[in-house]
Amino acid sequence: MPSTPPLAGPRLALAQLRVRDAIEADLPAIVDIYNHSIPGAWSTADTKPVTVAERVDWFRKHDPLKRPLWVAELDGQIVAWIGLTSFYAGRPAYDATAEVSLYIGTEFQRQGIGSQLKRRMIEHCPKLGVTTLVSMHFDHNEATRRINRRLGFEEAGHLREIAVVNGQPRGLVISLLRIPADAIYS
Ligand SMILES: CC(C)(COP(=O)(O)OP(=O)(O)OC[C@H]1O[C@@H](n2cnc3c(N)ncnc32)[C@H](O)[C@@H]1OP(=O)(O)O)[C@@H](O)C(=O)NCCC(=O)NCCS
Repeated sequence: MPSTPPLAGPRLALAQLRVRDAIEADLPAIVDIYNHSIPGAWSTADTKPVTVAERVDWFRKHDPLKRPLWVAELDGQIVAWIGLTSFYAGRPAYDATAEVSLYIGTEFQRQGIGSQLKRRMIEHCPKLGVTTLVSMHFDHNEATRRINRRLGFEEAGHLREIAVVNGQPRGLVISLLRIPADAIYS
């Protein structure tokens, strides 16, 4: 049974986080954070580490004006990333819909970074022309479930026992957030 990460130390001063568009030179750090989430067996359907080379095409599909990929830095170190990708292979009817992915470095989890980054991305969506955000996560990913609930996502589907992770059947939750095109966040 995978264990959830222990409670981290004092909560970070989130104001110190610097959030910016990722550049290709950030890809090794982005991949490293992603790969560290794999052994926990509650975040991703990948079961072995991915390589930087395998992620180059994925990286290049991002676009700060439509499908951003942001990194969050603390004292110059990349500690987290959040990105939007096009939904359903990017077919045009889904232009205003994007899937959100969020990964926090293991030692920086449970300190409010994930909540803050997702909130910021939601606030940015009207500028991107995104009116529906899709979040897909394993049903035992309690942290993502809690963040989504708090930020107003509704659970639109639960595909039970559709995956096998470390020999255990796991389900997939699909959640949606509707964002009015003219929403203005302060
Ligand atoms: C899921 C993830 C993004 C959450 O980010 P985070 O910065 O750790 O979360 P926060 O500190 O903002 O906490 C958000 C909520 O989740 C809860 N939470 C955080 N980690 C948790 C854990 N391991 N188990 C249970 N609850 C957890 C917090 O208590 C908080 O609950 P609340 O809103 O009711 O107070 C982060 O843990 C992560 O990167 N995990 C690995 C990758 C992953 O699962 N990404 C999502 C893939 S779909």
